[in-house]
Amino acid sequence: MCGIIGILGQTVVVDRLLEGLSRLEYRGYDSAGVAVLTNNGPAMRRSVGKLTSLRDEVARYPLEGKVGIGHTRWATHGAPTQVNAHPHRSGQVSVVHNGIIENYAEIRAELEADGWVFQSETDTEVVASQCDQFLHQGDEPQDAVRKTLRKLEGAYALSFLFDGAPDQMIVARLGSPLVIGYGPAAADGSFELFVGSDAVALAPFTSQISYLEDGDMAVLSPGRVLIEDENGMEVVREITEIHTEDMSVDKGPYQHFMAKEIHEQPDSLRRALLGLVDHHSCKLKPFLEEIDFAGVDRVLLVACGTAHYACHIAKYWLEDFAGLPVEVEIASEFRYRNVALSGREIAIFVSQSGETADTLAALNHLRNRVAHRVAVVNVPTSSIAREAEHIVEIQAGPEIGVASTKAFTGQLICLAALAVKAGLQRGTVSQADEQNLLSNLTMLPRQITEILALDGAIQAVAKDLVDAGDVLFLGRGVMYPLALEAALKLKEISYIHAEGYAAGELKHGPIALIDQSVPVVVFAPSDEHFEKLVSNGKEVAARGGRLIWVTDPKGASKLKDVEGSVLKVPEAWDAWAPIAHAVVAQLIAYHVAVLKGTDVDQPRNLAKSVTVE
Ligand code: F6R
Repeated sequence: MCGIIGILGQTVVVDRLLEGLSRLEYRGYDSAGVAVLTNNGPAMRRSVGKLTSLRDEVARYPLEGKVGIGHTRWATHGAPTQVNAHPHRSGQVSVVHNGIIENYAEIRAELEADGWVFQSETDTEVVASQCDQFLHQGDEPQDAVRKTLRKLEGAYALSFLFDGAPDQMIVARLGSPLVIGYGPAAADGSFELFVGSDAVALAPFTSQISYLEDGDMAVLSPGRVLIEDENGMEVVREITEIHTEDMSVDKGPYQHFMAKEIHEQPDSLRRALLGLVDHHSCKLKPFLEEIDFAGVDRVLLVACGTAHYACHIAKYWLEDFAGLPVEVEIASEFRYRNVALSGREIAIFVSQSGETADTLAALNHLRNRVAHRVAVVNVPTSSIAREAEHIVEIQAGPEIGVASTKAFTGQLICLAALAVKAGLQRGTVSQADEQNLLSNLTMLPRQITEILALDGAIQAVAKDLVDAGDVLFLGRGVMYPLALEAALKLKEISYIHAEGYAAGELKHGPIALIDQSVPVVVFAPSDEHFEKLVSNGKEVAARGGRLIWVTDPKGASKLKDVEGSVLKVPEAWDAWAPIAHAVVAQLIAYHVAVLKGTDVDQPRNLAKSVTVE
C-alpha cells in the first residue's frame, strides 16, 4: 500500500506534492510526509494521521525546494508514528517507498554491524541506509541505487533524493506500480518531471505518462529520463496520453466520495453496458474474441474482498447460463494452493484497482498453466491488467471511497455479459435468451435511479440499525453472496459487526444469535426462492428477531401477513437482482456510518489499494 510522489520541478514543489498526495490518500492515511532539496540542503516535514495534519505542519514551517518527494502511508512495519513516517533519511539519502522489503531485517543487521544506527522500525529506512553505505564506499548515486536494488527482496516502488544533487531523482519499481509524467515543454525546451504511484496523482500536472515495468530503474534530471530495465539495458517506455478529465477527484455536491460514487452508478453501469451490449439488437458486442468457452472445462474466479463477492455472484450465472463448473477463490489462499489443473481452464481475476498483491500473485501463479487468464479491472493500465492476456474494463471511473461501490456493480455487469457469452458459445443460451437477458440487464441503470430516489426510506432502515451491536443479512440463491457483500459494507464503514448468511443455513447454527437486539435484513426479490426465504424469515420472527425485508412490489404484496418492515424496490430480472439490491446495501451501510459519525471515505485501519500480502 502507501502512495508515493516525486517532482523535479522548475518552481517550488511543495504545494503540488501535497496535491498529488491528496489523490493518493486512498492508498493509506496513517501518516504523510514530504522532503525537498534546496540549495541550502534537505528539509523534511512528516506528520501522523491524515494529510490535513501534514498540510498544517507545512503551513507552519514552509518548504522551498524545487525538487521533492512525498508519501502517504498505510503502516506495515512499525506503528503509525512520526518517526516511522516517510520520507526516511540516512546520511545523504532521502527515500519514499511503497511495498514491503522482505529481507529488511537481514540487511538491517548487516548495516548495524557496520555501525549504522536506525531511527525507525520500518523496512524503508534500511533502503536509505544501504544506499548511503554504498555512497560512503565511493559509489555515485546511480550505482549506489543499482547495488541497493540488487540486495532487496520483496516489492517496491522507490523514489530517492540525494543531498547536494537538487537536479536529480532516481526511481525504481518491482511489484509496486510507478508512473513517470512529463510536463509541458518550456520555451528553452526543458520540462518538469513527475513520478507517482498512479496516473491519477499526476493528472493535475500532466497528461503525458509512461509506465515503468517491473525491474526498471530511472534517473530523472531536468528534461531527461534515462530508464534501464532489470538487466541494466537502456530502454524506452512509451509515453501515452491519459484522459485527465476522467480523473476528477472532487466530491461534487456530495458530503462523501462514497455517496457520490453510489449515485454515479446509473452512469457508470451505462458506460460498462455500452462497451458490452448493442442496445438496438440487445446482443453482445464482440469482446474477449480470442476465447471460446466451448473449449473450456472449468472457470476459476479469483479475487479479494468485495471483488470476491462479485465472483461469488457470477458463479451462479455461469452455472445457470453456461452449465460450467465454477470455483470461486480467495486470492490470498489460492496463490499458495496446489490446485489440480487440466490446462483447459479459464481463470478470471477481478479487481477494482488492478494492484491487489494477492490477486496479482494468483494471476502469476497460473501463468502458462491454464488456457486463458482474463482480468476484469477498473484500471486498464494496472499491474493485473498488464499481466493478464485478456482484459474486460469495468469502466467505473476513479473510485476514491475506500468501500467499493460502483466498481462492484461494474464488475457484476462485466461478469454478467461474460456469463451470457459463455452460454451462447456453449449452446446453453439461445439467441432469444440472449436478447431477453441483455434487455433486462440494460434496464438496471433506470432501476438503480429509482432505488437512489428511495434514499429517505433507506435512511429510515439505517436508523433502525445504527444502535445494533450485530446485524445479519440473509439471502438465498444469487442473493446469498449479496448478503455477504452487504455485511462487509456495513462492518467496514460503520464498525458494526455484521454477517451474511445463506438463509437456509441459519438454522444450522447462527439462529442462536437471534434476539430482539439483532436486526436481520433479508434480500428477498420475488424469485424462485421467495417462499423458502419467507419461511426462513418466520423462523427468525418466531425467536423475536427484528426483520427488515428488501423486496419488490410483487414480494411486498406477499409479505402482508409476515412480521417485519418492508423496503420496496423496483423489480429487476431475477438473475440481475443482486446488482440492483447492491445499491440498497451500499446506501444502508452509508447512512448507518453517517449516523454513527465514522470516517466514511477513509475508515480506520483500511486502505483502498492493498498492495501487500
Ligand atoms: C471493500 C473493498 C475491498 C476490495 C478488495 C479488493 O469495500 O473495497 O474488499 O474489494 O480489497 O480490491 P481490488 O478490487 O482493488 O482488487
